[in-house]
Amino acid sequence: MAKPTGVTIVGGGMITHDLLLPCVYHLQRTGVVGDIDICALDAGPLKALKESESLRQAFPGQSFRAHPSEKEDPGRKFPELYKKVLASMASRQAVVVAMPDPLHYEVVMEALKNDQHVLCVKPLVMRYRQAVEVEKLAYKKGLFVGVEYHKRFDRRSLVARRHYELGHFGEFAMGEAKMIEPYYYRSSNFQNWFTCDKTDPFVYVGCHYVDLVQFITRLRPSEVSVAGVKGKFPNGNEGYLWANGRVTYENGAILSVTDGLGYPDDGAGSNEQCLMMFCEGKDRTGMIAHDDQFRGVEHSYLTPGIGCAGSVFNYINPDFFRLVPWEGKGYKPVGYGCDSVAAILGTIHRIGNEAEGLPEKKSLALRRKIIREADEKAIIATPANSSTNELVVEAARLSIVNGGRRVRIVYGEDPHVEAD
Ligand SMILES: NC(=O)c1ccc[n+]([C@@H]2O[C@H](COP(=O)([O-])OP(=O)(O)OC[C@H]3O[C@@H](n4cnc5c(N)ncnc54)[C@H](O)[C@@H]3O)[C@@H](O)[C@H]2O)c1
Repeated sequence: MAKPTGVTIVGGGMITHDLLLPCVYHLQRTGVVGDIDICALDAGPLKALKESESLRQAFPGQSFRAHPSEKEDPGRKFPELYKKVLASMASRQAVVVAMPDPLHYEVVMEALKNDQHVLCVKPLVMRYRQAVEVEKLAYKKGLFVGVEYHKRFDRRSLVARRHYELGHFGEFAMGEAKMIEPYYYRSSNFQNWFTCDKTDPFVYVGCHYVDLVQFITRLRPSEVSVAGVKGKFPNGNEGYLWANGRVTYENGAILSVTDGLGYPDDGAGSNEQCLMMFCEGKDRTGMIAHDDQFRGVEHSYLTPGIGCAGSVFNYINPDFFRLVPWEGKGYKPVGYGCDSVAAILGTIHRIGNEAEGLPEKKSLALRRKIIREADEKAIIATPANSSTNELVVEAARLSIVNGGRRVRIVYGEDPHVEAD
């Protein structure tokens, strides 16, 4: 009987509520995950998770330990508490990192120092050197780090990758991607951290499509230029609310990526997203076109509040994440978001169980072998196979704060970015 893996989620915000916790709860049902702990900056989000009607309905009888307690004064902040929680974990369990982008690095490193495998939401870190540091420390200790780029697990992406690697499209030459998140994001906790100095829509969501194009084509980006449009959040903080990035690849191909926090709340949504890629072949061209927004399902609800931003008429994406009836109690989460979380936590679980009972030297060798296999397979994003994303993030930040300046990615012994 395989031993379940204990999971600590650091961060109790939107992504934890909407994707991570439901998936982790379901994996608990199936025996992959054991005890669940969640640590947040303060009690507010933890109370909201405990009281969430949709989670209660889908996962009756399941719960988690909250750090701090959800009964704590929501005004008290606990920025360092996650360190204590990680230090108290049994070794080689799993830490799920789900906090604002700029904090990923310190939490991932803390998890590794405490001998924990990691699932980190995208982007892994903000700097390439940090990704290399994470990769090296994790490999040294035989710990798996998976980056949760769930678009890779969308069946259409997997289908495209297979056809691309079989040469059915030709070579990528010109493409366009879009991801515009809903307007209401502006009034969420985003306004506290989505400021011009820290991040922007290209880094926040454009990275999904940059990762995806590389996932499909295996081409490395070589140049980035991002221009942004600034605006104010309701609390007065200034952020880039829109961004347009141009990514050039080593073969000369170009991808234009448009992102923003501004899909109308009145729209059928829940956001706008798509990818189009044109490829050169012999005497003809190939093409990949994904409408990732409208997937052919429309719902109109009687009750306002069910749909995105309280809307009643919605385009439904049944592919990413949905709760559906199943053979067991409550509801089951399905979709590529869940496949992605299950692939990473499943790999961690497998490593734990295959290495169980082996002397440390053999266990470490086996763990490292599984890590390298995942790096090479490049289905799950790992620091080794996806750190070009950090180079793109670094280049994008340098570009956007300098009004869209061209920034080159230089590979070789010491990959780095260089402004023109
Ligand atoms: N499509 C995707 O892949 C996707 C979608 C949404 C978010 N994300 C990523 O998930 C991460 C979190 O996004 P979100 O939307 O959930 O943000 P959020 O602002 O809703 O939540 C952030 C959480 O981090 C917690 N936190 C902050 N500082 C902390 C500390 N010192 N210790 C413990 N907890 C702390 C807060 O309490 C909050 O619960 C971001 O990196 C984002 O890029 C990914």
